[in-house]
Amino acid sequence: MNNKTEVVICLGSSCFARGNKATLKVIDKYLKDNSLLDKVFFHGGHCFGKCAEGPVVRIDDEIYTGVTEISIIEILNSKFKKE
Ligand code: FES
Repeated sequence: MNNKTEVVICLGSSCFARGNKATLKVIDKYLKDNSLLDKVFFHGGHCFGKCAEGPVVRIDDEIYTGVTEISIIEILNSKFKKE
């Protein structure tokens, strides 16, 4: 176990085609720009079984559905910019 926040982006074909391809780049850039690479374990996952609600991203135990390139920034800000 470690104390990193886990960020998993669904790379199943439905989510990938519907926006996660771009969202992946946005998250990657966000983590770099905010020096979060050592605090976050960011990786891709298989289909979460929620394709109809996708694109899906999971942060620790929380699942976000209908994620877009824009909304992911708000989600990341709410997680990592606490103060
Ligand atoms: S492809 Fe992402 S939930 Fe199925």
